[in-house]
Amino acid sequence: MSEVLKAIVERRSVPRFQKREVPEEFIEKILEAGRWAPSYANLQPWEFIVVRDAGTKERLTAVAEKVTIYRRGIENADAVVVVVADPEVDPLHYREDAAVATQNMALAAHALGIASYWIGIPEGGPGSAEALTKEILGIPDEFSVVALLPLGYPDPGYTPQKERRPLEQMVHYDRYGNRKK
Ligand SMILES: Cc1cc2nc3c(=O)[nH]c(=O)nc-3n(C[C@H](O)[C@H](O)[C@H](O)COP(=O)(O)O)c2cc1C
Repeated sequence: MSEVLKAIVERRSVPRFQKREVPEEFIEKILEAGRWAPSYANLQPWEFIVVRDAGTKERLTAVAEKVTIYRRGIENADAVVVVVADPEVDPLHYREDAAVATQNMALAAHALGIASYWIGIPEGGPGSAEALTKEILGIPDEFSVVALLPLGYPDPGYTPQKERRPLEQMVHYDRYGNRKK
């Protein structure tokens, strides 16, 4: 199997990490993979905030708590990449663009032996996970917070088990509902 296909199939979300530092050059490579993501009209409306400060990661656990059960994962992560998008740069597809960049980074991390898990941040008003993230990180209000991507060496004691719906259940040929090739 090609390296890319292998990474796509074998990447899993891992919310438990070892207490081990991810080398700065790996973080750079992961960010570089985000930079090369496709975007509508190549507008690249994203910004990446790399959080390694322990106090700030601790504060971000409150965001995680609002949207996920894996609260402790953030604190144990060596770094958290927060992906935000500027709707003024790409008003049509800003969140999809940022999502593609996030997946590129998750795949690059996996290829480097680094685990990640995607914490999706829905757009929201006062008191929301998005508002709290903006407050903690000083993100301008007009931006949209798309995802938190904690990164770290995977805890070997954690076994992710994920299945997917079979292709036959999701593929249609020529017309919706036609299952035969
Ligand atoms: C848009 C999006 C939002 C997600 N948000 C969360 C989340 O808030 N909390 C969480 O634990 N996992 C989150 N995930 C991870 C999914 O739960 C995970 O990708 C899915 O269960 C498939 O597992 P796998 O990534 O190990 O293949 C999110 C994934 C995506 C793509």
